[in-house]
Amino acid sequence: MTLILGIETSCDETAAAVVEHGRRVRSDVVATQHDLHRRYGGVVPEIASRAHLERITPVVEEALSLAGIGFDQIDAVAVGNRPGLIGSLIVGVSAAKAIAWSLGKPLIGVDHILAHLHAAALWVDPGGDDSLQASNMPDPPQYPAVGLVVSGGHTTLYRVGSPVDAERLGSTIDDAVGEAYDKAAVVLGLEYPGGPNLDRLAAKGDPTAVDLPRSLLGKESLDFSFSGLKTALLYAVRGRPVSRKGKAEFPRSAADLDPQAIADFAASFQAAAVDAVMIKLERAINRLTLDGAPPRSLIVGGGVTANSLLRTRVRESGETRGLPVHLPPMRFCVDNAAMIAGLAYEQFARGSVDDLALPAIATASR
Ligand code: KG4
Ligand code: ZN
Repeated sequence: MTLILGIETSCDETAAAVVEHGRRVRSDVVATQHDLHRRYGGVVPEIASRAHLERITPVVEEALSLAGIGFDQIDAVAVGNRPGLIGSLIVGVSAAKAIAWSLGKPLIGVDHILAHLHAAALWVDPGGDDSLQASNMPDPPQYPAVGLVVSGGHTTLYRVGSPVDAERLGSTIDDAVGEAYDKAAVVLGLEYPGGPNLDRLAAKGDPTAVDLPRSLLGKESLDFSFSGLKTALLYAVRGRPVSRKGKAEFPRSAADLDPQAIADFAASFQAAAVDAVMIKLERAINRLTLDGAPPRSLIVGGGVTANSLLRTRVRESGETRGLPVHLPPMRFCVDNAAMIAGLAYEQFARGSVDDLALPAIATASR
């Protein structure tokens, strides 16, 4: 039995998990920092890294205790070391190095974005320690697959050859879709974190009420752009800004609109944002097919995978095309350490481990 302790601190969640054989989640602890960042309307990097520092030790201890193991039973220590907020990443990477060094166990650095694609393979055994109820375990994805990661920091399509091998096909040229959701939520006067609140409100609105743009970036492009949609929503909600004493002023704000109008804007935004993602996902499937290696499954991950409309649309697309769809359960859509420990197992099984020189890297490597 291979038990890997995973650590994740790339943004505003301090997380640790223990995963057996890359898939069976023995424990999964996430200390969210939403309460600390709410009043700023977004993540403040300095506050995030300080909070990680305070929480990392108790979070790791709780993950071990919930898994019913001690430090000595871990086979390797994994950490999301790229990409993310550098001050936040450094806390997790330093903690992982300290634990690995003191135990004399291997250290494994994991790409956070690829780990989101592993989340759908995770499995929580409902039967406790001794039951091997494999019937609950999701089937592993078939490769090659089209991978889509949609989160607050990334909107990226991949050709996925195996859990550890993904080639980027396209990515956002400006905002990530989750970031667009969060900014749209601010325009609509919704509370932070905006994405889930906007999703909930959209269910009460009319998605055809306002016509908002779906940016395609040319016939063949697999890249995404959400800044035009964001600006179109801003102008639709607040009117065109006028210059007064050198300052741009909007004629109105969301507070001047009635609740039904706000819900209609939310639903119209959601329809446009999800359309924009789906159009590119369909194009990616066609691209792999034209290249002679059609995808055998779709794998989706990242915080925006929690979005109700996106989940429905991806499932429909898979059904229409006869492709199995791998969507993580809700708790593994957003940032967590189980996906880090899970993907680390795949690297470990292929003999890929790191040493204490492992860096924290802010930017995406692929
Ligand atoms: O993967 P994640 O936890 O962090 C990053 O790696 O970025 O994703 C967080 C993002 C946030 O932008 C959040 O607003 C968005 O995922 N999100 C949603 C929903 N739930 C989370 N966006 C739309 N609809 C949702 N239901
Ligand atoms: Zn993430």
